[in-house]
Order: sequence, then structure tokens, then C-alpha cells
Amino acid sequence: MNDIFETIKHVAFEIDNAIKTSDLGYSNSENSSGEDQLKLDVQSDIIIEKAFANITSVKALVSEEKEGVLSLSKSGKYTLCYDPLDGSSLVDVNLSVGSIFGIYEGELEGKNLVASAYVVYGPRIELVIATRNTKPMLSRVIAGQFKEIGEISMNEKGKLNASGGTQQNWSPMHKTFIDNLFAEGYRLRYSGGMVPDLHQIMLKGGGLFSYPATTDKPQGKLRQLFEVIPFALMYEQAGGEAINHEGLRLLELIPSHPHDTSPCFFGSKHEITALRQAYGL
Ligand code: AHG
Ligand code: MN
Ligand code: MN
Repeated sequence: MNDIFETIKHVAFEIDNAIKTSDLGYSNSENSSGEDQLKLDVQSDIIIEKAFANITSVKALVSEEKEGVLSLSKSGKYTLCYDPLDGSSLVDVNLSVGSIFGIYEGELEGKNLVASAYVVYGPRIELVIATRNTKPMLSRVIAGQFKEIGEISMNEKGKLNASGGTQQNWSPMHKTFIDNLFAEGYRLRYSGGMVPDLHQIMLKGGGLFSYPATTDKPQGKLRQLFEVIPFALMYEQAGGEAINHEGLRLLELIPSHPHDTSPCFFGSKHEITALRQAYGL
């Protein structure tokens, strides 16, 4: 998989450059989730597609910004599922955004995720890679090159709390749970970009990130193959947990369509235990 990780490093520089220099307007198209695509979403998708076109270990690409599966190398072992630019609507207010990659071997389901990676485009470019038997490794660009900084481990209990979705549309159960965490002293940290939000919680030791089922989005907003499952591996390998609203490990999800979403909760062990109690799981 080293060829895949090296290619991700290469595209990270190209996407970072596009973010810094390109037009921030909308394209004239929608993605498969019915969202208007920014020119930058499309451009980032093309950067990744071109970079992986000749990587022979990659059998196919599945992108948040493409409808179907794009076949590549016949001899390839892995399918790369990715969100080229997560949080792209935050670029115009100059907040951090990211790219997320899930590397699957076999059918596209949680148990077949073998590794994941994400890039944070912030004041610096950072990359985190986790596999089934390694902790998330943080690298940072220093003097034009990625340098490994160290492994990420979460504490048993954290201090941060981030919950997505419109609060008006939360269930009373979710609202009570979140209110109780704040009453216990948790601090709100939510930018609206899952990459920097989940990254912050992991690096600051722990806490909870939720994107619950809401009345307007009963299956949540975040996409299983490109967003939810890759970050579930990160959190589990960092010593945390990642489950859905029914208590199922997100790494056991079986999407029936590439763009399926799921309610999701990522946190350190203490907060996920509290969530199970509050949700009666
Ligand atoms: P994308 O830009 O790829 O469509 O994803 C945006 C996602 C995610 O980054 C974030 O956690 C979530 O949307 C925020 O949604 P809400 O504004 O509903 O909280
Ligand atoms: Mn996204
Ligand atoms: Mn996106």
C-alpha cells in the first residue's frame, strides 16, 4: 500500500495549491447526494483521479463526487473510496478542510477496510495514516516534505464535544445527552468540517464527535464509505470507539449503495459508554 500512501502525499500538495489559488465559485452540477458541487470539489476529484490512474494496486475509485465506480487496474487489489474535499463550503471563510481516503480490499463494507488516511489543509498540511495493526501516524509538511511526527493515542476520557446537524432537528434524547455533557464541563468545538473537528478531538486527547440521526436526515449526513468508515478505523486504532445510533461498530457497516450515509459517533471510551447509556444501547 506504500504506493497509495505516496500518491496521497503527492495529491495533498496539489489540492492544497488548488485551495490556495483557484476560483471558489460553484460548478453547474450536483453530486450524488444532491449537493451543489463547488469548482474546487470537482478539481480536487480530478487531481485524485489523475494521480491514481497509473497506480497498479488500485482496482477502482469511488468518489463522493462521482456517481458510480471508476475501474482502473485489472490486477489491482484495492478499491480507493474518497472524499476529495471535505468541508469545501468552509474554504470561502478560510477555515481548515480535508481529504479522506478509505482503502478497501474486497467488497465495499466496513470489515474490508484495510487502511485509511486523511489530509488536513490548515495553517499547515498534515496527513494521518492508520492501518488495522498500526496506530494513526501523524505527519506534517516541514520544508516541503512530509515528516512523521508521532503516533496518535486518545485518553480514556476527553474534554471536547462536537455535535453536527441542526439542533432543532435533534431527537430529545440526543439533546438531553449533549446538554448533560456540557453541564459536566465539556467544551464545544465544532467548525463544520469533520476532518479538522475529528482531528482536533483525537489530538487533544479525546471527547465526542456526533452526527446523529435528525428529523430531516434520519440516516444522518455523513457518508459511510468515504467519511464514516475511514474515521472509525482512525478512532479505534487511536484507542477510542466509533459506533452508530444502534450501537453497531461503524467498522461493521455494510453500505447498500456507495453514497449511503449513517448516523455516527466517534469518541474516547468514556464518552461512548455515556452515549450507550443515554441512548439505551
Ligand atoms: P462535504 O463538504 O464533503 O459535503 O462534507 C461536509 C460535512 C462534514 O465535513 C461536516 O462534519 C458536516 O458536513 C457538517 O454538517 P452540518 O453543517 O449539518 O453540521
Ligand atoms: Mn465530506
Ligand atoms: Mn466533499
